[in-house]
Amino acid sequence: MEYVDLRSDTVTKPTPEMREAMAEAEVGDDVYRDDPTVNKLEALAAEKLGKEAAIFVPSGTMGNLLALLVHCQRGDEAIVGNKSHIYLNEAGGMSALGGIQPCPVANQKDGTLALNDILASIRSEDVHHPITRLICLENTQNICGGVPLTAEYTRQVGEIARKNNLSLHIDGARIFNSAVAQNVDVKELVAPADSVMFCLSKGLVSPIGSMLVGTEKFIARARHLRKMLGGGMRQVGVIAAAGIISLDKMTVRLGEDHVRAKELADGLRQVDGILIDGGSPFTNMIYFNLAESVQMNAPQVAEKMKGFGILVDPDDWRRFRLVTHYWIDDAAVEKSISAFKKTLK
Ligand SMILES: Cc1ncc(COP(=O)(O)O)c(C=O)c1O
Repeated sequence: MEYVDLRSDTVTKPTPEMREAMAEAEVGDDVYRDDPTVNKLEALAAEKLGKEAAIFVPSGTMGNLLALLVHCQRGDEAIVGNKSHIYLNEAGGMSALGGIQPCPVANQKDGTLALNDILASIRSEDVHHPITRLICLENTQNICGGVPLTAEYTRQVGEIARKNNLSLHIDGARIFNSAVAQNVDVKELVAPADSVMFCLSKGLVSPIGSMLVGTEKFIARARHLRKMLGGGMRQVGVIAAAGIISLDKMTVRLGEDHVRAKELADGLRQVDGILIDGGSPFTNMIYFNLAESVQMNAPQVAEKMKGFGILVDPDDWRRFRLVTHYWIDDAAVEKSISAFKKTLK
């Protein structure tokens, strides 16, 4: 059965155009910087984000980890959201591999960290304290609903960072969703940041890969550490070729995913038993709870939905996150609404 897959935008398979570009990619040994396709992708990523340089990495997790390792020394502290991917879903890499201590600050409903909370978390000069080195933001903030952070908010956090001699890193796994949703140039959203990671392998449809961008000096250090982590790849232009299409063609169509997420949410609001979060969707993610009247729990609902050809991932015992992406068309939206109606009737 051909499933409608709403579990994540990470499930996106490459387009026929990507597969063709991958097959025909000019390649070389990227550890020697000999791969022209990777070099082109890195230059394009740096240019699009308005930064000096970029490096291609196998995953968003590695990109974030490299940023943490470059910005912080062992024993330093990094301020992170308590609902951030870095804090919750990267296997504790910052502590295990970097000896970096996370300083979790409450994510507000709108995905931000309250400025006063950030200020209060910065350690004073004291022999007992770790040294605060870094602030990490996530844009869009996934667990808070795929909410976009504004350029103005990021500017304010950047100012705090600058005044306190800290660096600012953005986990921008879905930064282009944020830019499209707010109709701003992505450069504006990341201007205050010293480094940004974004993923090619989510809404941008590439099969593999993320980019880390920053200054020439920062990226040179990240390149060294990428090798240390085993992320130095060879003829990886075969993957980077898809990434170039992601940046050229997929960034500009993300609005379609946001429109479909709204259509899906509007349809689901009419289904008894579904309580969509206030404001959702902000971008390509819909978060909702099952009403008390629903006898089944979320995994049971997911199982029934699978029988109707729809894959959904329970986020919790009675909660779901649905994600729209390139392969979710209007028919898939209709089919999903109808399957929820049948499942919850
Ligand atoms: C906000 C955010 N940051 C980072 C990542 C990590 O990306 P990857 O799965 O490529 O390691 C993800 C993955 O879902 C994510 O949602």
